[in-house]
Amino acid sequence: MNDSFEKEKICAEVYQRIMALVEGETDEIALMATVACELHHGFPYFDWTGFYRVVQPEVLKIGPYQGGHGCLVIPFERGICGRCARTGKTLNIADVHAEADHIACSGTTQSEIVVPVFDANGMLRAVLDVDSDSPAAFDETDVKFLEKVCELFRNPGICWS
Ligand code: SME
Repeated sequence: MNDSFEKEKICAEVYQRIMALVEGETDEIALMATVACELHHGFPYFDWTGFYRVVQPEVLKIGPYQGGHGCLVIPFERGICGRCARTGKTLNIADVHAEADHIACSGTTQSEIVVPVFDANGMLRAVLDVDSDSPAAFDETDVKFLEKVCELFRNPGICWS
């Protein structure tokens, strides 16, 4: 998608929809499921959209997602998701084949973005992973937008399991 105005417009609409749907919701799985669904169906180049949750020290486990199956467990030392969890920084990967640590859950993935999800205390709780079958699918608008969406999880009212 090259039309940045169009993309900004979709971002605003998707954000509004998410906010309306999750109003008052404090269950983290309900939030993740709703966010994954709205993101996945909101953007034509999001081909896998979901969360990996920190379930024990240094271990991510699959959470709510949309798309084909994802691998179930990712230790922090593996994958782009693990790298994001270790560094706490968003990773925008234009070409997954150029990354030695990329875990290929689907042979069609060309690019990927992973955003850390923190709670109100700044503790890493999950990562949001979006994969695209298009090369270099994500730009700065996607980065900013997905980071803004993940800020939802900083709500101190969320009951983390
Ligand atoms: N590509 C990710 C693994 C998760 S799946 O793509 C759904 C990674 O390298 O961490």
